[in-house]
Amino acid sequence: MTLLNGLASTYGRTGGSGEALAIRGGRPLRGRVDVKGAKNLVTKAMVAALLGESPSILHDVPDISDVSVVRSLLEVHGVRVTTNDEDGTFVLDPADVASAHMEEIDAHAGASRIPILFCGPLLHQLGQAFIPDLGGCRIGDRPIDFHLDALRKFGAVVEKLPSGIRLSAPNGLRGANIHLPYPSVGATEQVLLTAVRAAGVTELRNAAIEPEIMDLIAVLQKMGAIISYEPNRVILIEGVDRLAGYEHRAIFDRNEAASWASAALATDGEIFVAGARQQEMLTFLNVVRKVGGDFDIREDGILFRRGGPLRPVTVETDVHPGFMTDWQQPLIVALTQAGGRSIVHETVYENRFGFTQALVKMGADIVVHPHGLQEGPRRVPRRNLEQAAVINGPTPLTGAEITVPDLRGGYSHVIAALTATGESVVHNVGIISRGYEKLFDKLNALGADFDVLG
Ligand code: EPZ
Repeated sequence: MTLLNGLASTYGRTGGSGEALAIRGGRPLRGRVDVKGAKNLVTKAMVAALLGESPSILHDVPDISDVSVVRSLLEVHGVRVTTNDEDGTFVLDPADVASAHMEEIDAHAGASRIPILFCGPLLHQLGQAFIPDLGGCRIGDRPIDFHLDALRKFGAVVEKLPSGIRLSAPNGLRGANIHLPYPSVGATEQVLLTAVRAAGVTELRNAAIEPEIMDLIAVLQKMGAIISYEPNRVILIEGVDRLAGYEHRAIFDRNEAASWASAALATDGEIFVAGARQQEMLTFLNVVRKVGGDFDIREDGILFRRGGPLRPVTVETDVHPGFMTDWQQPLIVALTQAGGRSIVHETVYENRFGFTQALVKMGADIVVHPHGLQEGPRRVPRRNLEQAAVINGPTPLTGAEITVPDLRGGYSHVIAALTATGESVVHNVGIISRGYEKLFDKLNALGADFDVLG
């Protein structure tokens, strides 16, 4: 009985949680994948529609569960959402926004962090909000102190409840001076979504400036907001009384594009990522070139493949325009095939190398240093950040039974199984549908050999 039959029969008997894939790896992935709108923009633009007095239209919305969670939360608050599934167009009509019951909100919050961004819009529309405890990937303790501090500065009253937080704005919301301790993406979005309708001017310092943030600013400007991006991470927002709906085509998903690029490098394949654009991926493309990869920038996307034997690199994750923390998990799978010692410093989250245990189980030589490799001041003097992973390669990977820990790590498990020779069973792949649309269709299109085990 092969590993697969044995595991499949065991798995079949026990059932297990979430879906599982039986993957037979060791073949190059070749073909085309189309990436839609960025998960980490689309979900925020949907929340922004709450602020408008007329319907908003959002194009290129991917069919992922993070979008479904936000759609459900909008609907329990009275927003009418209609979709054209063919081209991923959403129409969001906030005409009947109304308070929702706590248990309804709780039921729909799902494993997502987006609900925290409903605070400002609901306070503007209803004068109150209940936000359940957040979900999201377990890649660190992911506090929301920056968010709550900012909301209090706008004049919100924040009350912690056993199951979440209740907010009110007895005197309305007014512009504030906010200096973030760290360029947090979520906290920057929190300030933007609150300041646009607050009375007066808001000055936000040390803001995140990821392309998804700039795209959210474009959405808000279309609605009538007055937002200026000053040098040195300063964003000024002049509050306005009314905002209209918007029509917007979302920026492409840089994280999914980088994931497929890493898959091409890891499996020695060739993948055309339709929809990917060079400007938003400059830092990633430099690393692709350093690691021995090759890419062709085309009008409608980017073609990725190996340019020769993979070479080791040292990479440090950072806020934009640095190397995104979401890019390191898929890249590390490719680095297991590079000839030499690679080092990846993770400076954004405290616990984002958990996925490497599965790679080690498959034969990779990866050592994680929880406290980094060097003494002295931390790059990010906060909560002991600067883990490091040291990867020695090339090491042949062989099939194993592994379980997905989080979204980006989960994708890396699948690519590792596709890189490995022999059979793997990857459990709990359902998490991956949070951020990767039509994963199985795309794997089929690239010639992957796998079965869905239910
Ligand atoms: C967003 O998370 C993305 N998620 C993440 O992508 C991405 O990795 C991250 O930004 C960084 O680019 C969404 O947009 C839904 P942060 P977010 O606030 O907003 C600390 C994926 O796979 N922090 O920039 O939560 C925090 O703990 C996900 O698509 C506080 O201390 O990230 C972390 O160490 C994974 N207090 C650092 O800041 C706060 O109040 C960066 O977090 C907020 C954050």
